[in-house]
Amino acid sequence: MACYHWRWRRVLLCLCCTPGVLVGSLCVYVTLAVCYGTTTTTGPGVAAPIPQTPPERFIALGLTSNGTVAPHPTSSFWDPKPHGGALWNLLQLHIDRHYNPILMPSREYNYHLDTNNNNNKNYLRFSFPTLSAGFSEIGNLTSQMADFPELPLQMQMFVRSMHFRDYPVLIEPAKLCGRGPRKGQGPFLVLAIKTKALNFENRQAIRQTWGRAGWVAGATGNGGVVRRVFLLGKNHAESRVDVNELLQLESRRYRDILQWDFHDSFFNLTLKDVLLWDWLSTRCSMARFVFKGDDDVLLRTPALLDYLREQTILSGAPGSEFMKGFMVGDVIGAASPNRVNTTKYFIPASFYNGLYPPYGGGGGVVYSGELALRLNRISRRVHLYPIDDVYVGMCLHRLGVHPIHHPAFLTFDFPKKDREERCAYHTILLVHKRSPAQVMKLWSEIMRNQTECNSTILRTEKENKNTFLIDSFSVKDNKGQELLTDPWGSSENSAL
Ligand SMILES: *[C@@H]1O[C@H](CO)[C@@H](O)[C@H](O)[C@H]1NC(C)=O
Ligand SMILES: *[C@@H]1O[C@H](CO)[C@@H](O)[C@H](O)[C@H]1NC(C)=O
Ligand SMILES: *[C@@H]1O[C@H](CO)[C@@H](O)[C@H](O)[C@H]1NC(C)=O
Ligand SMILES: *[C@@H]1O[C@H](CO)[C@@H](O)[C@H](O)[C@H]1NC(C)=O
Ligand SMILES: *[C@@H]1O[C@H](CO)[C@@H](O)[C@H](O)[C@H]1NC(C)=O
Ligand SMILES: *[C@@H]1O[C@H](CO)[C@@H](O)[C@H](O)[C@H]1NC(C)=O
Repeated sequence: MACYHWRWRRVLLCLCCTPGVLVGSLCVYVTLAVCYGTTTTTGPGVAAPIPQTPPERFIALGLTSNGTVAPHPTSSFWDPKPHGGALWNLLQLHIDRHYNPILMPSREYNYHLDTNNNNNKNYLRFSFPTLSAGFSEIGNLTSQMADFPELPLQMQMFVRSMHFRDYPVLIEPAKLCGRGPRKGQGPFLVLAIKTKALNFENRQAIRQTWGRAGWVAGATGNGGVVRRVFLLGKNHAESRVDVNELLQLESRRYRDILQWDFHDSFFNLTLKDVLLWDWLSTRCSMARFVFKGDDDVLLRTPALLDYLREQTILSGAPGSEFMKGFMVGDVIGAASPNRVNTTKYFIPASFYNGLYPPYGGGGGVVYSGELALRLNRISRRVHLYPIDDVYVGMCLHRLGVHPIHHPAFLTFDFPKKDREERCAYHTILLVHKRSPAQVMKLWSEIMRNQTECNSTILRTEKENKNTFLIDSFSVKDNKGQELLTDPWGSSENSAL
């Protein structure tokens, strides 16, 4: 039997290797390729040329708010060619080469057990040597960025420290998410709020209003377990009172302070996202949802709980594809770097070249705990970027995840006429730029009006008729009139 088989294989081998047969196969291949080429260039399936003017109202790719799936993007949002020598693009190119799955397949699995982490023996920490390696390959930063000495100080500081992100925790709440990662033990929603040491008033207002921890009832539904944590860097204040000592006191009293050992500044806000993901994956990996936002927003937590319950029932249980990529907020797309060197968002062309990916902006987004864990891993392959919301968008893009736009997240406040309406605040989930006093007042009104407004539904796209043209961080209406400047200020957490 074996002999018989062997003979057949030899015949086959002979047949295939005969030059005539080889040439024949080549001819067939070429003919097929030519046919395919001509049908795709003339057939009806040809993609229309991309319009040169950007759409007036941006709708993110990927999942739309009505649940349908939009086309996946085919090109990268940044300029992958290092021409012009933008530093971030160049550094990212090094990482991308390093992790190219075709050139370096084994690197996908390049992790080791973190033996220093005593609290969770099974926690895998990925090792990512290239984040700093890219720097040494590029060498002298000042020669890479010719205009480096003329750049604003915050940009220089950012560039000098952007390869480093493993800052130690100084203060953290004990057992915020319950004891140990037992199955089904995580909170339903973790509120992670970016704040700075001196914003004590903001934190206090949040604790008494939308940030209450414990079991929180929904506006109409059952609600869920909510946990709160404030994210801080270190304050290098020259003030007479020792702010860090006050923070220690505050932490003992409320157990909701999470502070890391880095300088708290506007361009360092990205570190809070990255370090939060890391912290969540070790300390709170069972959280169902995470709200990440600023300390100058008003969040209608009960309505958000209802909305999230609805999502889990209608769209996806834990572990589903939908939940693994769930992020919702005010999605901003087709934005480009701000090149006005007098604004705090200024990004020089020598640092970044390209457009921004779609990102959730304006003071707060909500994502699934599962997505937080994925972001934690992928962020190790994306160089830090000074604008925090954009950085999150960059990581999402790497995961092939598109944030869902929801009109009830108001980055730019209400349109004037809507604000006067009786139950205006019952149509929203989040509104940006409210002072602590306003938050207190609005919250008690919202509670008082609950029954009166119980049939009010969340804002939908149709109500929001204003069209915005987003251009270098200024927002213009259809006549080109400037509506707002500085629209997505990240809670003015800046010392600069
Ligand atoms: C959902 O939204 C997309 C984009 O806005 C639109 O193209 C599509 O027709 C909508 N689908 C339904 C069922 O409404
Ligand atoms: C970096 O480059 C600048 C300008 O090319 C040069 O003046 C400086 O000496 C270089 N520094 C180092 C450490 O090579
Ligand atoms: C961010 O924090 C690090 C560590 O404290 C510091 O070295 C760096 O200068 C800070 N960056 C900015 C832009 O403030
Ligand atoms: C801003 O740019 C202008 C030219 O576009 C330049 O003259 C000015 O010095 C720059 N200012 C700063 C602070 O870099
Ligand atoms: C609550 O109701 C009162 C009276 O109808 C109205 O004047 C007020 O604006 C409402 N406030 C909120 C936050 O809905
Ligand atoms: C809204 O409140 C009214 C009483 O003010 C009540 O009769 C009605 O059933 C409530 N509707 C819902 C949906 O809760």
